[in-house]
Amino acid sequence: MRKLLFLSFIIVASISLQASDDVADLAEKKCGECHLMGLLTKEKIDNMKAPPYWAMSKKVKLEFQNRAEMIDFIVDYTLNPTEDKMLFSPMTKKRFGLMPSQKGKVTEDEIRKIAEYFLNK
Ligand code: HEC
Repeated sequence: MRKLLFLSFIIVASISLQASDDVADLAEKKCGECHLMGLLTKEKIDNMKAPPYWAMSKKVKLEFQNRAEMIDFIVDYTLNPTEDKMLFSPMTKKRFGLMPSQKGKVTEDEIRKIAEYFLNK
């Protein structure tokens, strides 16, 4: 019985590890081109096209009280960014411009998963 419990623990643990790896890949593929992710290199920092993802999730966490609102904001902004929704300062817009809509490049479901992942980091 003990052995069985231990085995199922290992299986569950490896499945959830696998799942978070998949989200990390997805996030890097869909958002990493602009929002700094993964290994930081001087080249990446010099060519930054947007604030790093952790700066973005920090802003979102400061602005909203609960997780559902945070995730809804990230989903909505990613598909329909506008200046009046923007949480970053006008300085950010001056430096990087407004985020281009990612409609058609990423699905709502994918953004929800990515948003969870960003907020957990
Ligand atoms: C082509 C470049 C680009 C890609 C790809 C991109 N972003 Fe952005 N993003 C930006 C820029 C530039 C900003 C800063 C300006 C702004 O806030 O609109 C930004 C800001 C944001 C913000 C904060 C908005 C605010 O000001 O309140 C969120 C949330 C966000 N991005 C989510 C995402 C997610 C999620 C993905 C991946 C699915 C993604 N972005 C992919 C360029 C990009």
